[in-house]
Amino acid sequence: MSGDTPTIEPTGGGVGAHVSNIDLRTELSDDSVALLFQALGDYGVLFFADQNITPDQHLAFAGRFAPVVPNVFLDQVPGYPDISLVQKRKGQRYNIGGDWHTDHSYDKEPALGSILVARETPERGGDTLFTNMYTAYDTLSDGLKEVLGQLSSVHGTSHVYGVAGNRPRLVAQDEDMRGRKPEDYAIKETIHPVVIRHPISGRKVLYVDPGYTQKIDGWTDEESEPFLKMLFAHATRPELTYRFQWKPGSIAFWDNRCTCHYAVNDYEGGGRVMHRVTVEGVPLVA
Ligand code: SIN
Repeated sequence: MSGDTPTIEPTGGGVGAHVSNIDLRTELSDDSVALLFQALGDYGVLFFADQNITPDQHLAFAGRFAPVVPNVFLDQVPGYPDISLVQKRKGQRYNIGGDWHTDHSYDKEPALGSILVARETPERGGDTLFTNMYTAYDTLSDGLKEVLGQLSSVHGTSHVYGVAGNRPRLVAQDEDMRGRKPEDYAIKETIHPVVIRHPISGRKVLYVDPGYTQKIDGWTDEESEPFLKMLFAHATRPELTYRFQWKPGSIAFWDNRCTCHYAVNDYEGGGRVMHRVTVEGVPLVA
């Protein structure tokens, strides 16, 4: 068991912290796990360098925080049904996660976090942007905060993976459907408060994301769309973000309730292979 206390240093950008003095190949002490858990809630994303962990060590690390939730929309790493393969194959144009989003917000109890391990990285490009949804909330006017506190929004997948969604079309162009039909994906929808109380930090968070928030509950699409666009633009201002450059062995562990992320699609397919494990969250409360 590793007895050292991890060192946690804020990135200096809008979100996240770097963690050093830690070896994720070893079993962490309960104190270290508690420290990381609190830091995740406080900083939103934890970045680790040079962690050449095996898939089993990846699962063991994730399991210290919460049970794993498999992702039904992604492929799995062969032999590891609980590890999603986040890969852009040679000749593929779209990449996974190439829009601002947070993982699993379409679930009733959205995933606490995702742990992404870089296995292969392109020579240049393939960074990931993260944004801080605590700051997004804090920097709104008091008047708008009051309005948002009364609202809920619908989160779903049909606009992405459904028949008329954007991803099947992109996937089909890439001849990458692998036998699945768009309607197989269009299965998730739920409602969450627009402002949640973060389960770890207790702070208020703006909980809408450009990827999966479809509309304000009870509003028409015409009313909802410009309103959500304004919130998304506010939440993804550069001041709130941090851009992470990957190397093989880099890990980002992000909290899905207080951050959004964006995988930048600026590289040829074939050279970026990532493994993602997502862990269970709790019901969200206003
Ligand atoms: C994701 O959206 O989970 C993938 C992020 C990335 O590949 O950088």
